[in-house]
Amino acid sequence: MSAETSIKTAVFPVAGDRSPLQPATRATPKELLPILDKPMIQLAVEEARAAGCERFVFVTRPGATHLQHYFAADPAYEATLEARYGAEVAEASRSARLSPEEAVFVEQRERRGLGDAVACAREVVGDAPFAVLLPDDVILGAPPALAQMTARWDGRGAMIAGIEVTRLQVSRYGVMRIDDTGGDIVDVTGLEEKPDSDVTASNFAITGRYILPSTIFDAIAQTPADANGAVQLTDAIARLISHTPTRALRFTGERFDCGRLGGLVRAQVAFALQREELKDDAAAYMRRALLRLDQTR
Ligand code: G1P
Repeated sequence: MSAETSIKTAVFPVAGDRSPLQPATRATPKELLPILDKPMIQLAVEEARAAGCERFVFVTRPGATHLQHYFAADPAYEATLEARYGAEVAEASRSARLSPEEAVFVEQRERRGLGDAVACAREVVGDAPFAVLLPDDVILGAPPALAQMTARWDGRGAMIAGIEVTRLQVSRYGVMRIDDTGGDIVDVTGLEEKPDSDVTASNFAITGRYILPSTIFDAIAQTPADANGAVQLTDAIARLISHTPTRALRFTGERFDCGRLGGLVRAQVAFALQREELKDDAAAYMRRALLRLDQTR
């Protein structure tokens, strides 16, 4: 089995319910907000599939069933779409389907942080290495970011997607200390969740794509909660690094923080400019809009 094909399970933590994107997320969970016509969760599932994953584990809030509905086959609805809008629209809708074998839903009983959310997938994941994708980190990459990671992963230890951020931004991220050889793959020598900008020695930030060994589950179980009661995945990975190879990949592509309005706007623009049927119109509109903006300054 080659390393490239050995990650079969992807975990999507989607139990967080506090979103600054209001009022949009009063009734629509953040992961169902679209970038153009695809919900962020759909983009993340497609990215995992492109990396070879065959099982998709969604860690949801207790009682939340919106994703079951979203991924379920709905032949009557799809037939109506086909009759009204044609085969292409119906097919686009059908592409969201996940079979009951592919989609697994587990609940995070209390909001106790990303580490705790990942731990909820323990039984489903079992002993195999697995991927974690945070859907509001939307990445436009070719190949998609997780596929870049699985292609470079040697079958051992952990791999984390990393990006350089500005000093001022480090306090929003998990930050990695690295042995910087200047290459795209670097050894991680330390991790810290959301450090103070003036204290940390690194501005190399964790992006929401991880390949993790199943030993992370014991590490999470041993990780104490932080001052806010959250068990951080970053802290659990920090426990691994002394005995487990832990690397970061500087992936190629652009990452958008779609949990924030600015990132959401940039993602819509970037995705529109990638779409053949939209890009000319979007570009022409932006040129006109920028011209108007310049005239009013
Ligand atoms: C999470 C992780 C953090 C990582 C970030 C990437 O934080 O805890 O280490 O840098 O995702 O988006 P959150 O954005 O959920 O606060």
